[in-house]
Amino acid sequence: MTKSSTTSPRLVACRAVQFVADKGLNSERALTVAGINNLNDVRDISFARSVCLGTLRWYHQQEVLLSLLLDKPLQNKNRDLHFLLLTALFQLSKTDIARHGVVSETVNLVHALKKKWAKGLVNGVLRSYLRQAAALEIKLKKSPVADTSHPDWLLKLLQTAWPYQWRDITEENNKQAPMSLRVNTLRTSRDEYLDMLGSVNIDASCSPISASAIILKSPCSIDKLPGFDKGLVSIQDVAPQLAAGFLDLQNNQHVLDACAAPGGKAAHIMEASAGKVKLTALELDPQRLLRITDNMQRLGHKVEIIEGDASSPESWSSGQKYDRILLDAPCSGSGVIRRHPDIKLLRRASDIKQLADQQLRFLHALWPLLKDNGKLLYATCSILPQENENVIHCFLSEEETAKERELDVNYGQSRQHGLQILPGEHQMDGFFYACLQKN
Ligand SMILES: C[S@@+](CC[C@H](N)C(=O)[O-])C[C@H]1O[C@@H](n2cnc3c(N)ncnc32)[C@H](O)[C@@H]1O
Repeated sequence: MTKSSTTSPRLVACRAVQFVADKGLNSERALTVAGINNLNDVRDISFARSVCLGTLRWYHQQEVLLSLLLDKPLQNKNRDLHFLLLTALFQLSKTDIARHGVVSETVNLVHALKKKWAKGLVNGVLRSYLRQAAALEIKLKKSPVADTSHPDWLLKLLQTAWPYQWRDITEENNKQAPMSLRVNTLRTSRDEYLDMLGSVNIDASCSPISASAIILKSPCSIDKLPGFDKGLVSIQDVAPQLAAGFLDLQNNQHVLDACAAPGGKAAHIMEASAGKVKLTALELDPQRLLRITDNMQRLGHKVEIIEGDASSPESWSSGQKYDRILLDAPCSGSGVIRRHPDIKLLRRASDIKQLADQQLRFLHALWPLLKDNGKLLYATCSILPQENENVIHCFLSEEETAKERELDVNYGQSRQHGLQILPGEHQMDGFFYACLQKN
């Protein structure tokens, strides 16, 4: 029997997708507003989340699929049915959930939406999909937006930037990212922690790219991770674990992490330097700043935390200069779409120029805070040159005391400026790094 409206994970998922698509909420917020916390069973919670994220991942494809199955689009007052159908089509076309279960549960949900009249419509659309699935798949292949499930503007940017890799990139973006850990090497070693994981039957391996990183064979909930509360480990992809090494930290240096929340890279800086640097973590958003405090407390790191705007140091800085600055700039997130598929719905083409302008402004504002011979590491989780090498190019042409230092590693792609990691390489997220030194 279908559960009541407040407790149906399918309904939570479908409402959450609607909140992302129509109200612009991010998926976590959308799931909360849709009532995921009212679900009692952990399996229901995980099912609601996976149907929501899966539908968002395949949203651009499912929209085309639904349009092929409907004679005419549903009216605005029936947007709820539209999203009910999208989530059901995702389950039918991309998962191995029993088909009769998907159809009957979805049809029954029209009662919860108080649209009993739509029973025949929902049943008809889903059965029509099942009858014509193979032919519809062929039609979807003809549209690049449907085939790759990416918005047209982003697809065009990717095709231009990565003419040989864009297909692989879109395929990676549609996969589920692995769960990776960063071992707090001040509290345990990577080998010891791997043994601890083995003792609770969590299959994992060491990343060859970062000395602190472990990649789990399949994701698990945080409470299953040994010693998480005691700060032995944090959840972090391997690519962001490269920042600490690229900063070339030396004892007693003063480091500024200019966009620090939730504090993943800041904590790693403390771990990689064995706590021998002084770290100032700056963050604009007071809510996110609290997450830095929590993380540092759990991991046992002492850092200075300042609420302030990286683009106007005069409002928070006492004139202190730093040996190292990490600018992990706000960006489109185009390198982490596999973790946050809602990015494909929430971002707009016009955001990219605005972000690039802001990134350049941050560089200019922070540069005077760097000591002579100091290094600034610029990082984004974007794979768009507009936010990466082009920003660095502009900055270098405008700031004559800045020189680029090559990041000499045997992974990623060396670009005209900086190093680009594409999603999926050594199981990493897409990331960009460029190291600038002051002469
Ligand atoms: C990419 S995230 C940083 C991730 C972080 N470095 C980590 O590794 O956990 C960018 C952060 O910059 C913050 N931010 C945005 N605008 C800012 C500004 N003008 N000044 C300082 N921080 C800002 C955002 O709130 C966000 O927390």
